[in-house]
Amino acid sequence: MNTTSHPSLPRRAFLASAATVTAFAALKPSTVFGADANTRLDIGLIGCGGRGSWIADLFVGTGKYRLVACADYFRDRVDAVGGKHGIDPARRYTGLSGYQRLLEGKLDAVVIETPPHFHAPQAAAAVEAGKHVFVAKPIAVDVPGCRSIAESGRRATAKKQVFLVDFQTRANPLFREALRRIRKGDMGNVVMVEAHYPWSSGGRDLPPPTVEEQLRRWYNVKALSGDFIVEQAIHALDVATWVLDSDPVRAQGLGGQKLRPKGSIWDHFAVNYEFASGVPLSFTCIQTIPEMRDEITCRAYGSEGYFFGDYFSNVWIRGNEPYPGGNVGNLYTDGAVANILEFHQAILAGRCDNPTVAPSVRSNLTAILGREAGYRGGELTFADLLKANEKLEIDLRGLKA
Ligand SMILES: NC(=O)c1ccc[n+]([C@@H]2O[C@H](COP(=O)([O-])OP(=O)(O)OC[C@H]3O[C@@H](n4cnc5c(N)ncnc54)[C@H](O)[C@@H]3O)[C@@H](O)[C@H]2O)c1
Repeated sequence: MNTTSHPSLPRRAFLASAATVTAFAALKPSTVFGADANTRLDIGLIGCGGRGSWIADLFVGTGKYRLVACADYFRDRVDAVGGKHGIDPARRYTGLSGYQRLLEGKLDAVVIETPPHFHAPQAAAAVEAGKHVFVAKPIAVDVPGCRSIAESGRRATAKKQVFLVDFQTRANPLFREALRRIRKGDMGNVVMVEAHYPWSSGGRDLPPPTVEEQLRRWYNVKALSGDFIVEQAIHALDVATWVLDSDPVRAQGLGGQKLRPKGSIWDHFAVNYEFASGVPLSFTCIQTIPEMRDEITCRAYGSEGYFFGDYFSNVWIRGNEPYPGGNVGNLYTDGAVANILEFHQAILAGRCDNPTVAPSVRSNLTAILGREAGYRGGELTFADLLKANEKLEIDLRGLKA
């Protein structure tokens, strides 16, 4: 299922945007122009659905990767990607354990694009197998999953492997520069933050009736997606926690299913968070409103100025030390391509500090805290969320191993 309202671009548009990214991405010249800069890495794709097949084209389109293996629960999915990229049929793996057989093969890295429920175990196995890991957001659906990814990131660093989480905003030069200036103090002390995720897509379906069908259409299944706030709206919370640079202390949540049938995920959440030093974050997300203007916005108010960032439009700081920023362009594609290039560069340079892991764990836990406070219709502290360590289970018995 492709849950985005911003479908992949045709190849021509991708090549244009990839060239743009190559031009402005913050790449070290020594690596870019060094003899190894174009070394092709062998990758395996785990999860051959909408984003998996789309991002496989981006990886290969950079000329820096060869797609040599793929895994998906379903045969038709691996054959679609495998056929397109000329993958040896013997290296197209199916079933729940297909990814483990993929990891036994000769590969430099894996790209994980399965439903979020599976990211943590698949990433852990990939790190153990000695592969570099590129994984889609959200990293996990629950606290144990976030802890597992944090541990996999540390293991990867210890084993000199690269582990990158694909948040597009974090790869964007305008967002990076604005955040650098916020850290430098250009906005003064951060007093209050807002984050919003109004989304016109998402559908209003019930989960499919069988678990096997749910693997294909997983978005409406809480244990597989983590619900709307974790699977989608995390993009806004990730920018907010980047600005705030601390864990939340507590959250007060509301929300529900006024548009979607009971038994599905929620259609809206409204959460008031408290961060360190009492700084409030006011957050809302809502989906499936026809003709709504999509936004993934964060506004931060400081003692000396004001930050605005939107995934679909502009980034700026206004105030005593203004930053004009600019339009982010097609962040959906360009951000992914920038991450794909940074992944390659980090592997070649042996740069294994893996800076995307800790912030992704933080924003994911923040989203889970908001979800759980919302389900309670009340307050939950971060400490109690961590202590409960609740796992979202799904019964996979009977499925093809
Ligand atoms: N902007 C973004 O960063 C962005 C956009 C879209 C999707 N995503 C993320 O990408 C991931 C994939 O999303 P998608 O839209 O491609 O979903 P999708 O349903 O189109 O693809 C997922 C694939 O995983 C397969 N699968 C399910 N369970 C599996 C298992 N246990 N083992 C192997 N394969 C399994 C399914 O058969 C399917 O082909 C999700 O984590 C999603 O949140 C990120």
